[in-house]
Amino acid sequence: MIKWLKDAVFYEIYPQSFKDSNGDGIGDFQGIIDSLDYIKGLGCNALWINPCFDSPFKDAGYDVRDYYKAAERYGTNEDLYRLFETAHEKGIHVLLDLVPGHTSEEHEWFKRSGKAEPNEMSGRYIWTDFWIRGMQGHPYIGGECERNGTYMLNFFKCQPALNYGFLDPKENWQKGMEDPDCLATREAMKDVILFWLGHGCDGFRVDMAASLVKDDDDNKSGTCAVWRDIFKDVREKYPEAAFVAEWSDPPRAIAGAGFDMDFFLDHPGNGYNSLMRDYERGEADHSYFKAGAGGDINRFLSQYQDWYEKTKGKGYISLLTCNHDTPRTSYTLTDRERMLAFAFLFTMPGVPFLYYGDEIGMRYLADLPTKEGGYTRTGTRTPMQWDGSRNLGFSDTEDPGRLYLPVDEAENAPTVQAQEEDPTSLLNTVSRILQVRHEYEDLQADAEFDVLYAKGSDMLVYRRGSLLLAVNPSAREAVYRAGSEVGEKTGGTGSVEEPAKKAVFAIGEAKAEGGSLILGPQSFAIFA
Ligand code: NOJ
Repeated sequence: MIKWLKDAVFYEIYPQSFKDSNGDGIGDFQGIIDSLDYIKGLGCNALWINPCFDSPFKDAGYDVRDYYKAAERYGTNEDLYRLFETAHEKGIHVLLDLVPGHTSEEHEWFKRSGKAEPNEMSGRYIWTDFWIRGMQGHPYIGGECERNGTYMLNFFKCQPALNYGFLDPKENWQKGMEDPDCLATREAMKDVILFWLGHGCDGFRVDMAASLVKDDDDNKSGTCAVWRDIFKDVREKYPEAAFVAEWSDPPRAIAGAGFDMDFFLDHPGNGYNSLMRDYERGEADHSYFKAGAGGDINRFLSQYQDWYEKTKGKGYISLLTCNHDTPRTSYTLTDRERMLAFAFLFTMPGVPFLYYGDEIGMRYLADLPTKEGGYTRTGTRTPMQWDGSRNLGFSDTEDPGRLYLPVDEAENAPTVQAQEEDPTSLLNTVSRILQVRHEYEDLQADAEFDVLYAKGSDMLVYRRGSLLLAVNPSAREAVYRAGSEVGEKTGGTGSVEEPAKKAVFAIGEAKAEGGSLILGPQSFAIFA
């Protein structure tokens, strides 16, 4: 386990929208450098920066044209190296975003791969052997290149799939994982990783990490083997480099493939979705943190606890407030509901991630037209709201048309400046929770997690190491009688026999009295 992850709290930065330092309407590296003190002050000590490499930006940079070159709109490679250096001076680690499964169709590798004449790149992507022959079960494109074949896509039309081979090749155009062309793709990706680690980056968030080997089995044994091989070489040189998977299957990503962390991502109806975003299935909102919505914490716990047991001691499950693909929680939850949800996420085991702007409750601007392949994700990617100045402090361009995306025009749009001045703000609450997390080792990544009481939409009582925590998202008071029965107890090892403890952190009313925990409506507390 990587030592620095133990007390890491990540801040995700969508670089286009974070801070524009040169007035061109788009965020940049210098803007991030200028904001490092803010991020540190908030309580985050690590960054994940979305793809910032040369790209035609048809998918916001997830279509890489050159893995070795920073995108000009953010600055130069030297600016990025300086960002690593300045962050390190402040005790902040930096992860970049690696897109190993596909490139842009404008990548030099792909241009050469599409040539009629066989060459070194012919096998870098997945091609059939005839211009009108398709690929069963996979999206593919024909008619674009002079080569006599069609090629496989990994996501959008602009993102051809790199070739790591098929687990069990069945057609003569399919290559096995150990084919020299597939091994060359693997080596090329190792080289990209080593290049950036060599320049001071601390690791990567890995895009679509499960997508490498095609027609893989249910256990993803092919893709896991590729990752283990990549990590073996990389970790020999950089044992402290950290890798977080976009996989959302921690037993596979961590125990199978060797990642340090894996996200629990939002999918309609899954455990994470049931906490804050359970409104997408055409029914009423049943999110656990929505007061009175009739949610059920066990929908989250049943999935989480299984994964937790299978990955404990091997790696970390990463819970996130949101990311650049997911609607912000402010879409449906109130400030208070979010405070409780975030307090819960930030006191769970593993390594948490905070999406820029969530700390002030930025809105999800659902009606924005799509930008750079964002579609319904665009509303989550709007400019950071710093203060009351022009463009809410994101950019000093006088031409609103130059802004990457419009800033929130609502009269009450939250800003960092306004919330810093209000001790009860979401920003100050988030910052206090993170401070407490840094203060108590028992709240950090490794301390044991036990559920003492969990029933439907009722309060949840859980233990982290020697600390006792309780969250009550409902609109009525809740009491947990330690050592006696209050409803059903599930999971964990049971009762709180020890004398009542003292609340060292609370949102709302919370007390421990005579062995009972009494939590007021919509409250959260940590008892030590
Ligand atoms: C997942 C990324 O998070 C998303 O933004 C991107 O569009 C796809 N992968 C394709 O790379």
